[in-house]
Amino acid sequence: MKRVNVGIIGYKFMGRAHSNAWLKAPLFFDTKAQPVLKAACGRHEKDVAAFAEKWGWEEVETDWRKVVERDDIDIIDIATPQYLHHEIALAAARAGKHIFCEKPMAMDTRQAEEMLQACTDNKVTHYLNHNYRRVPAVALAKQLIASGEIGTIYHWRCAYQQDWITDPEFPLTWQLRAETAKAGPQWDLNSHCVDLAQYLIGGITEVTAMVADFIKTRPLAEEQQTGNLKAGASGLGTGDVTVEDAALMMVRFRNGAVGSFEATRFANGRKNRLTFEVYGSEGSLAFDLENLNELKYYDNRGKAGMKGFATILATDGSHPYVERWWPAGHIIGYEHTFVHAVADFLDAIATDGPIAPNFETGLETIRVLEAGLQSAAQRKTIFL
Ligand SMILES: NC(=O)c1ccc[n+]([C@@H]2O[C@H](COP(=O)([O-])OP(=O)(O)OC[C@H]3O[C@@H](n4cnc5c(N)ncnc54)[C@H](O)[C@@H]3O)[C@@H](O)[C@H]2O)c1
Repeated sequence: MKRVNVGIIGYKFMGRAHSNAWLKAPLFFDTKAQPVLKAACGRHEKDVAAFAEKWGWEEVETDWRKVVERDDIDIIDIATPQYLHHEIALAAARAGKHIFCEKPMAMDTRQAEEMLQACTDNKVTHYLNHNYRRVPAVALAKQLIASGEIGTIYHWRCAYQQDWITDPEFPLTWQLRAETAKAGPQWDLNSHCVDLAQYLIGGITEVTAMVADFIKTRPLAEEQQTGNLKAGASGLGTGDVTVEDAALMMVRFRNGAVGSFEATRFANGRKNRLTFEVYGSEGSLAFDLENLNELKYYDNRGKAGMKGFATILATDGSHPYVERWWPAGHIIGYEHTFVHAVADFLDAIATDGPIAPNFETGLETIRVLEAGLQSAAQRKTIFL
């Protein structure tokens, strides 16, 4: 089997999720290429060495350019904050490496266009990790919509709610600064939601948005650690939050449907709750990431007086991806979506086949997100 050497840049939250996926994908999916965990890169040698040792990466680098320049690397896995995605992706594409990139794709439309162009020019495979497409229940929703099961789509309703920064003493991490994150939940959370909307419903033509700022200054952070940060621990003074705290969008789709998006890190009690609802002429679907094995389905053609939302436990062998895991009812979780992505990516490389989402769909997503920020700033509707 073809062996492909992977170099990963970034070793914290996504570094761990991706490492797990590179290890598990060939075990569960009989992938057409065998990944070799070749080099892990981070700025702090001791920390990246400990990460590499734990997850089985063969070598360690502290300068991402060195990884990209290596002749023996086939795939660059970009697991850094988004302000670095553009620079790393351009260098990787020009060096002929395939790219597995975290979301949000880029800091703006121009960067996204350049990333797509560089990959097209250099004929490399590019994958953008909006991993929620690969939740079996979400992939099932796609199948049901595509087969006409819920008819003509009228409504999309989506909310992505978290609560990890409701404490005003939570430090000013890279996610809260425009130069490293671009924007707040509009970029981070709504990128996933817009990707899902484009996947399930279709292209977006019109955006009206509003943002809100709740906490304007925070304690400076030494550097973000994975997991829960200790509030106010740095003693370094305070700095300004330069991204929004919540973002609301209304959109019109090319096919005539209308939709709404709500993204916030200020929904106390909601940890990582991504919900969507789709309403069509023949039925409806509803999904909640905190119960990701389930899809709610309403069949409008059912027997009068007997109709209601049914819960499909999407763990059947017939459901997307599931037959590779466990018997029906033996549920899967968050990390499996990364394994599915890596498995599909390896097959796409081995067969020179297509994979989505990618920088082409990502560019469309960035356009919508940017239109949202523009709409909020100018207090007017933006037509795409
Ligand atoms: N797909 C998802 O659901 C999902 C979830 C969380 C984060 N993300 C995305 O993944 C990316 C990384 O987020 P995270 O939560 O893992 O962040 P993190 O802060 O946990 O990790 C960032 C990593 O990047 C490294 N890094 C930063 N600057 C670097 C440089 N100049 N050279 C080399 N390494 C550098 C850091 O050392 C760290 O290892 C972001 O774009 C984020 O939006 C995606």
